[in-house]
Amino acid sequence: MELIVAVYDDWGIGKDGTQPIALTADRKFFRETTRGAMVIVGRRTIADFPGQKPLPGRVNVALTRTEQEIPGFTVCTSPEQAAELAKTAQRAMVIGGGSVYRQMLPLCDTAYVTKVHCTPESDTFFPDLDADSQWELAEILQKGEENGTEYEMCLYRRK
Ligand SMILES: NC(=O)c1ccc[n+]([C@@H]2O[C@H](COP(=O)([O-])OP(=O)(O)OC[C@H]3O[C@@H](n4cnc5c(N)ncnc54)[C@H](OP(=O)(O)O)[C@@H]3O)[C@@H](O)[C@H]2O)c1
Repeated sequence: MELIVAVYDDWGIGKDGTQPIALTADRKFFRETTRGAMVIVGRRTIADFPGQKPLPGRVNVALTRTEQEIPGFTVCTSPEQAAELAKTAQRAMVIGGGSVYRQMLPLCDTAYVTKVHCTPESDTFFPDLDADSQWELAEILQKGEENGTEYEMCLYRRK
């Protein structure tokens, strides 16, 4: 399985249920990278989707313990169940949020990490892959600057 995330310099990823700074370039990278894939997402992050609707052009899988049904999503009640379902997809990507990343990182071997070089206050964090000896930076796929904020899309692989 793969994952995709945007992190600030302190590996913060969100505050109050949303991303305090979201770059257009990163949204485009996310759309292109996840297109056609199965995406696995936590129920709280769905609350931040436009209209709380599934992402078009993707197979949407929701992780929740509380909801029986979420329209447009296949509901899973554990990371293990989502991982089983992921085997039926050509490509499955974990797309957050914080608790789902933490629980599913051990099941992933590839991570697309957009580093957004600023440090707004976050209350949700992703594990620092640069400090994790099991992971290595394989490639920088893109880099640029938007409204004065530098960013780079990094590909990490499990060693
Ligand atoms: N920067 C990025 O790339 C990025 C990407 C995505 C999200 N985010 C940010 O991440 C934050 C949200 O993260 P979060 O940790 O608060 O929430 P989350 O991971 O999106 O969702 C948490 C919910 O997922 C369900 N869940 C979690 N573990 C489960 C398990 N083992 N079995 C079944 N269901 C499970 C539960 O839903 P129920 O409560 O329904 O049981 C839980 O409340 C927001 O700030 C968002 O903006 C950032």
